[in-house]
Amino acid sequence: MSSKLRMTALGAALAVGLVGCGGGGAGSGGSDTADAAPEDLTIGVAMPTQTSERWIADGNNVKEQLEGAGYQVDLQYANDDIPTQSQQIDQMITEGADLLIVAAIDGTALSSQLQAAADANIPVISYDRLIRDTENVDFYVSFDNYKVGVAQGTALLTGLGVLNPDGSQGTATGPFNVELFAGSLDDNNAHFFFQGAMDTLQPHIDSGVLVVKSGQTDIEQAATLRWQQETAQKRMEDLLTSSYNDGSKVNGVLSPYDGLSRGIITALQNAGYGPTIDAQPNPMPIVTGQDAEIASVKLIADGVQDSTVFKDTRLLAEQAVTAATAYLEGNEPEANDTETYDNGVKVVPSYLLPVETVYAENIQSALVDTGYWTADEVAKGQSD
Ligand code: GAL
Repeated sequence: MSSKLRMTALGAALAVGLVGCGGGGAGSGGSDTADAAPEDLTIGVAMPTQTSERWIADGNNVKEQLEGAGYQVDLQYANDDIPTQSQQIDQMITEGADLLIVAAIDGTALSSQLQAAADANIPVISYDRLIRDTENVDFYVSFDNYKVGVAQGTALLTGLGVLNPDGSQGTATGPFNVELFAGSLDDNNAHFFFQGAMDTLQPHIDSGVLVVKSGQTDIEQAATLRWQQETAQKRMEDLLTSSYNDGSKVNGVLSPYDGLSRGIITALQNAGYGPTIDAQPNPMPIVTGQDAEIASVKLIADGVQDSTVFKDTRLLAEQAVTAATAYLEGNEPEANDTETYDNGVKVVPSYLLPVETVYAENIQSALVDTGYWTADEVAKGQSD
């Protein structure tokens, strides 16, 4: 090769290199990936934990759907450990990921990783949990998290008979003793869930129909670090000891997540409640939930837990894949909410999915008929 040709070749390589780096910034579309074949592109998927089956389903659904579209996928779980998740994301970036999908453990802990992603023009999609305090997050896919909280508050009121199933005023006037649980304070969703639930419950607390006997109505008092079942069980045990040792009974518990609900139910059963909501003389309180985890769906079918809020993770995965594909093809994904999710630095354009409350009566139509769980899995309380 003549030196002139070599120079030209070098110039071309440099130009390609520049085009390769000059995607226009994360969020402006992966124009550097638009001409690439899907099989040459890798998507890093960072999930929080495998201790909850919803996140396993999320990971599998996202991976399968991305692979179905031809992309390479690097799926990692972080055992709910923040340094592990940071390290996994660092590694995805170093290994040349073209896009990241992240369900954060601590929504505020990823700023330096996401700066590195932005520097490398890697679009970042925040999955279900909003990543906070950084401008380097491009899109958010989730459910309507405030409405999840409203659904939980409404389910508690319905279970107690304060509301009828159609939402109209019920005949029960209480007073009912309720206790309140919230999720992990480092998860942005926990605040939306609690706010939605409290906006729904507060008028009934003010009117005296509901009584929070422990007095613990602040999210800081109700919170459960890392959404741990054992932590919720321990707090429920402590509440029973501190506030119900005078013979009074708990009638309802606001729980924002099925894992916590199972801990709460265990504490109540160990203290002689139940085992079911119909049991006498000491019925299981009305306990809410979220995620339609299979163990909890069985508890609902068995009349132990009253309700859960179902979030179809298959649809969430689909939205994440739609958004990812848009970026990788050089386009902007379509948002249906551009106001709600301020992450402290900017409002992140979001695609929010609807949710559905599941009671024993609609397990079949909401979960079995839709193929989310089989009747056999519900009966066993275990996924196949
Ligand atoms: C939240 C999520 C809930 C539940 C919880 C515990 O971020 O929105 O659906 O899964 O984490 O894992």
